[in-house]
Order: sequence, then C-alpha cells, then structure tokens
Amino acid sequence: MNDILKNRISTFDPSTLVRSDKVHRSVYCDPAIFDLEMERIFGRAWLYIGHESEVEKEGDYVTRLLGRRPVILSRHSDGKVYVIYNSCGHRGAKICVESRGNARPFRCPYHGWTFKSNGDLDGVSMPRGYDKNIDFKDPALGMRRLPKVENYRGFVFACLDEAALSLKEWLGPAIHSIDDIVDRSPEGKVLLSAGVHRYIFRGNWKFQLENTVDMYHVPFSHESTISSQGRQFSRRQGDAAGSSISEKGDAAKRWEQRESWGSARNGHSYTGHQPVADNKRVDEIHKRYVESLKKKHSSKRLEEVLQPRRHNTAFYPNMSLQALNQHVRVICPISVDRTEVLVWPVLFDGAPKEMNMDIIRGLNVTHSAASLIQTDDLENFHRCQLGMKAENSEWVWFARGVGTDQINNQGHFINTGTAELPQRAQFIAWANLMAP
Ligand code: FES
Ligand SMILES: [Fe+2]
Repeated sequence: MNDILKNRISTFDPSTLVRSDKVHRSVYCDPAIFDLEMERIFGRAWLYIGHESEVEKEGDYVTRLLGRRPVILSRHSDGKVYVIYNSCGHRGAKICVESRGNARPFRCPYHGWTFKSNGDLDGVSMPRGYDKNIDFKDPALGMRRLPKVENYRGFVFACLDEAALSLKEWLGPAIHSIDDIVDRSPEGKVLLSAGVHRYIFRGNWKFQLENTVDMYHVPFSHESTISSQGRQFSRRQGDAAGSSISEKGDAAKRWEQRESWGSARNGHSYTGHQPVADNKRVDEIHKRYVESLKKKHSSKRLEEVLQPRRHNTAFYPNMSLQALNQHVRVICPISVDRTEVLVWPVLFDGAPKEMNMDIIRGLNVTHSAASLIQTDDLENFHRCQLGMKAENSEWVWFARGVGTDQINNQGHFINTGTAELPQRAQFIAWANLMAP
C-alpha cells in the first residue's frame, strides 16, 4: 500500500459515507476505497468459493478469486474438498492459470516443485542441494490452506479472518435459501457442473450486488420483455402464462407486495418469490418430479419446496442464489469500475433430465451474456458508473420505504418488495466491515 493511501486510510471513517437513506457516490468511484474494500470486506467476510459438484473426481480443481487473492478449490484423495492459495510455497509463483482442470499433483512451472491437492508439499526438485535441516513438512512450504473453510450442503465458503463467526452464524436466516434449493432435488443434492456464464461489465461491483435484490427496477428496466397484458415470457414447460409484472403501466400489486428482508448485522438480504408457482405446473415431466420428491419430504415441506418463498437471496458481499431462474451468481470485483460476473445453473440431482435441460435453457434466456434480462442490467450498471462522472449530487439515494421498515422478532428488517431495504442493509454491513 503506498504512503498517500496509508495516510488517507488512517483518517478514513466509512460511517461518514453511509446515511440511513443514501450513500456517498465515492463508494462507487474512488480507487482508494476500492483498495480498502478488497482488504477489509473481502478480507473479513465469509466468501463463497465454489460448489463441491464442480470438483467431483480426485485431483479436480477450479481456480477462484477471494477478493484479489488467487485460490483453488480442489478434491483431494481423502474425498474432501480443500481451499488453498494458488501460489507456490517456494517463491510464490501462481501455479494454475486455467479456470479448471485435474492435477495430480499440482506442479509449479518455475522450479518444478509439486504439491498435493490438499496443498501439502509433494516433491522438491533436486532436493540434494538443500541443507539437511530444512523441514520439507513445514506447511509454510506448501500451497497454504485458508484459515477457515466450511462446506454447507455442498456450498463451500472460506474466510480469512480467524476470529470470524461460524459460517452458520454469519449467514443467519439467509442459510435457509440454500436449504430450500437443495431440498428441491430428489437426491438432496444440487449440481453446479453444467458450465458457467462469465462476462465483465464496466462498473463497480456493488451495482450488481444491489441489483440482485432490487424489485423496483423490473417493470422499467426489463420493459421489453413484458407483453401488453403486463406479463413476462413463459420460463418453462407447463407454465404457459408467465408472471404478471405490470398492470396498466404500473407495477402489478402482487409484485409490489412481495416481501423484502435484510439483515443489518451482516448485509444479507432476499426478496419474496414472484407469482410463478411451480405447483401450478401441469406437464408430465413435472408430475414425475413431484412424485420423486414426495418420497423425501413431509407434505408441509413438499409444499414449501414446490412454491419457493424467496426469489433472489444476496449473501453479502458477492454471491446470490436465485430460486426462479435457478442459479448461483458470484460478483468478482476487478477494479473500482470493472467487475466480472459468473453465473452457474443449479441442477437437481435425481430430477428428470428434461427438467434440468429446461433450467439450462431458461438461464441462457435470462442471464447469459446475450440474454433478455441480464443485458438490460449490465447496461444499467455501466450507465450508473458513467453517471457518477456528472457530479450533480454527492449522494446516491436508497430512501424508498425507509420510514416503513419493520423489525421482525429476530431483529431483522422487513418491508414490501420494492422498498430499497436490501440495499440499505448492504451499506450498513459495508460501513461495519470497512471500519478500522
Ligand atoms: S516458484 Fe515454484 S518451484 Fe520455484
Ligand atoms: Fe434486472
């Protein structure tokens, strides 16, 4: 970190940039704030790394970023998944540059040291040149493992802060969004192995995070996808009508009435499900799927599983999980005004093949780089970044619903769907994590 940045950071008070109903525009365009976010937010929060179905076989690995730190999720010979730094224990070279592969062992391109898939040092080239006292079992010479890693029902998270809460405590009620989607699989297991959509937009990472739980923009940003009857396109077989989004040019009542929930403690949030109920589907494939789920759940749980209550859940700071066009999204900040987005379809193990194909096809339509929905939003994020240059106001507003937020019996905020509550929760967490 350079001296100018150090001086600025020593006097930096994040709470001056976040008010109850607005945030200072510099949070989107100041490179020094971005650097501090990488250090503090991405150095303190639990971050989603990947799903264990991406590394099914021994030696399988995928490469990821934890903020700016290159890491690897790998499957070891003991059957467990590990998260290790993508950096050689010798002189630090980055070992894997491909996004995925199978390596037994990992081999550094520089001097040829090799490492096991749990990060342990495997072999040193020409070891006779080393002093006899060197301890090659010292973990410091391996590809080091991250201090905290937890696997919740296949979803692997890691955290650099040794004093952090457990993953379950950190996620709080947001964790049930993972339960809900996993319980929709007849085998109790989801698969994120069907490939990934990957693209970069020219805007700050927080624009995408805010948008995952923004119900306000839908009738306007995605107007081109809505019929003159106010309905959006059908998403899958057996759901011919599509969902109602607007009525006479305004947002549909049901749309506005959906719930929004936010946790000020750690910034997670979700919005209620939109009225496309899977239990109204009539096609044969879906009937087969429901039959296989009946064996697994009580009738109450079956009903919950077939009619998800949550639409999109944003796990602060950079992952979301959507129940409708079911996918996991990870938001990777590259610089203050450049962000990479990764989107994996979530398939259900044990579900009819046609249904899983439908999920992949549906996501191509809604969230690929050439989709009907996400392209509208990528344009919005870039426009927001461009608009910041106008300097017409110091503040960016999140005031919608601020006076009507309720606090539920667990101390979390709730409101109706189009309130800007999730974004307010995100910025409370932002200020907490950015504090010295
Ligand atoms: S830097 Fe990896 S073996 Fe030397
Ligand atoms: Fe959108």
